[in-house]
Amino acid sequence: MQTRILSPDPIGFASAAAIWRAGGLVAFPTETVYGLGADARNDRAVARIFEAKGRPQFNPLIVHVLSVQEAQSYVGWSHAAEVLASAFWPGPLTLVLPLKSGAGLSSLVTADLPTLAIRMPAHPVAQGLLAAFGGPVAAPSANPSGRISPTSADHVLTGLAGRIEAVVDGGACPVGVESTIIGLVDDPTLLRSGGLPVEALEAALGKPLEVPGTDSPISAPGQMLSHYAPTAKVRLDATERRDGEVMLGYGAIDGDLNLSSAGDLIEAAANLFHHLHALDAQGAAVIAVAPIPDRGLGRAINDRLRRAAAKG
Ligand code: TXA
Ligand code: MG
Repeated sequence: MQTRILSPDPIGFASAAAIWRAGGLVAFPTETVYGLGADARNDRAVARIFEAKGRPQFNPLIVHVLSVQEAQSYVGWSHAAEVLASAFWPGPLTLVLPLKSGAGLSSLVTADLPTLAIRMPAHPVAQGLLAAFGGPVAAPSANPSGRISPTSADHVLTGLAGRIEAVVDGGACPVGVESTIIGLVDDPTLLRSGGLPVEALEAALGKPLEVPGTDSPISAPGQMLSHYAPTAKVRLDATERRDGEVMLGYGAIDGDLNLSSAGDLIEAAANLFHHLHALDAQGAAVIAVAPIPDRGLGRAINDRLRRAAAKG
């Protein structure tokens, strides 16, 4: 794939929006760092973000929106959300709030969590792109997994050229570090320091932020233990279904549902949470899961399956 460089003008915005509508990936500038964007409602497009970054885990992603009203269609709003959004949006602040049921976002965006990280970027190019697209854009920083966040289109191309459809070149990012992330599911909690100073947030809230301690279940943002695990036990590397089991197939090893009969790991990732929920709802004691190759997106799929098996 040849990665196109798009201009930060209406023609570039229209091209980027067309790529997003077709399920493709476009990196774009925000005031913090460049994001690697996809249509947040499209499972397959979001799966491709993880594939392009080479991420061995499904970390939840930030959804970018153009207005508070749009944010309110995806998350439960609160007084603290109103205070922080009216003081700092658009800007380098991400809020984690309860996901609304029926929000229509891909379950890969939230890594199947009941919460959603959402922000309204201030960069005019990001806003122009969101307006041209007219929908929610999921975007982690546009760097390969384990590398530092990109603050120019050149940085993006160094890491991801040939792996994504396009990058919109909007020059250097003015803030240069990622957004500050505040959890608002309980008392306002600092989940990640970033471009918006803690002092400004605390002044607006009129109280100190909670900070997750080292003994807290949240070791890093998004790494919470409350991740979905099926009620059923999970048996991995199953080559056949035993009595009383339901089976999740992959490739030639078929089951009640198949993650991808064609053996396509992007399709398998896009189907993972849906199929686990659907099989769990059948009420069997055990979900047997066919072997998944441990390469590319298969590593993230296996990471999630191992967690489900450990808890089941
Ligand atoms: O400035 C930024 O925030 C940039 C630009 C592109 O918007 N994005 C960014 O995304 O830094 P990323 O994926 O590199 O970092 C997002 C962080 C991750 O650490 C993730 O675990 C956390 O946000 N996160 C996402 N959803 C979450 C949730 N529901 N609960 C807790 N943490 C969450
Ligand atoms: Mg990042």
